[in-house]
Amino acid sequence: MPNDRSPVPRLVTSLPGPKAKALIDGDERYTSPSYTRPYPLAAHRGFGAVIEDVDGNRFLDFTAGIAVCSTGHCHPEVVAAIKTQADTLLHMSGTDFYYAPQRDLAQKLAEITPGSDAKRVFLTNSGAESVEAAFKLARFHTGRKHVIAFSGAFHGRTMGALSLTSSKAVQRAGFGPLIPGVRHVDFPNPWRGPSVDDCLRQIEKIFHHIVPANEVAAFFVEPIQGEGGYIVPPPDFHPRLKKLAEHHGICYAVDEIQAGMGRTGRLFAIEHWNVVPDIVCLAKGLASGMPLGAIVARADLMDWPPGSHGTTFGGNPLCCVAALETIRLLEGGLVANAARTGDYLRKRLAELTDRFEVIGDVRGLGLMVGVELVRDRASKEPAPLQRDRLIEHCFRKGLLLLGCGENTVRFCPPLVVGEMEIDTAVSIFADALTQIQ
Ligand SMILES: Cc1ncc(COP(=O)(O)O)c(C=O)c1O
Repeated sequence: MPNDRSPVPRLVTSLPGPKAKALIDGDERYTSPSYTRPYPLAAHRGFGAVIEDVDGNRFLDFTAGIAVCSTGHCHPEVVAAIKTQADTLLHMSGTDFYYAPQRDLAQKLAEITPGSDAKRVFLTNSGAESVEAAFKLARFHTGRKHVIAFSGAFHGRTMGALSLTSSKAVQRAGFGPLIPGVRHVDFPNPWRGPSVDDCLRQIEKIFHHIVPANEVAAFFVEPIQGEGGYIVPPPDFHPRLKKLAEHHGICYAVDEIQAGMGRTGRLFAIEHWNVVPDIVCLAKGLASGMPLGAIVARADLMDWPPGSHGTTFGGNPLCCVAALETIRLLEGGLVANAARTGDYLRKRLAELTDRFEVIGDVRGLGLMVGVELVRDRASKEPAPLQRDRLIEHCFRKGLLLLGCGENTVRFCPPLVVGEMEIDTAVSIFADALTQIQ
């Protein structure tokens, strides 16, 4: 299939096709009703930025499996590394034993994350587990109970991570009481407000009226809000928030789970602001689709003793070699490609604003691009139904997209995407815009 250069999208059945229908019927009988499927895609295989469904329909994938398949689907070098490792050692548990892939990946992550201090790494299975680990570490290290996170943030769905998440009410409803000691303040939004001053004032108010700063263990913050709507904060936000954290001995815990691993055109998104975090949370793009997460923290901060935190599967050897290969490919050109093609994608999408009043804002960094839809630009009233119809229409034309926030379409293709694929995607997107006007 990777050598088949026939044009994509290539639709050979109505959607969903007969095999997809059968698969979906079976799936929906047995899987959890909590899953959210925006359209009936039944994936069979993938390469690069292409997904083929079970009926042989080929789609341009601008979701990368929710911002995961950074090197493209089934990158041959990642697959080869996994296959070689699978013949050698599938599992031994890095919490209790030693093996080279875990050591090599920990060393690599310590070297490439921002900051020149010595660092240590804890490997996990997912984003939520990385956040969970960071939450525990921040409390443990500081001996403080409280943390501050941001409205609109998504940090995962396990109890600790969910307590920090403030994205959609449905994600929290019915699961309380959540972890005590978490407070949310607004995240700055250059297009809609609030301003950085407003947000920092809310934190100062908390310090003044509710929790003294010296009882706050950490700020948990996404460099760019992901699920919340692909919101890039103003240039002074991270530097000022970091300064406040430093002033009060509060850990700066950056959730790079969606924005990291090259997606924004820098290996780590926080590098755009020249801020050195205390703890970095990783997952998603780290291992090109293998389930792996990590936290990286300054060595003096990761001071928990043996037995205080561990995991059976985290740092699985297959995932570690996939991550090492992923990082090699990212450093070897894919981060640069994300920066270059991301600029191109934003430019092409911005060109549509003159034609379509429904486009309120086009924003992003690298290949983390959001298009916010509104009823009209003057009122900025969100247009969530049009957003959903637009995404459905794009699927029917062979382009895979996802929403984020209330009314934003996210473009997060694999970092191997090229300009021709972007041109095709933008033309399908433009056609869909004409259908929903
Ligand atoms: C910024 C961020 N943090 C954490 C998570 C949770 O990751 P996972 O679904 O792997 O638990 C996500 C997932 O979307 C995310 O975008």
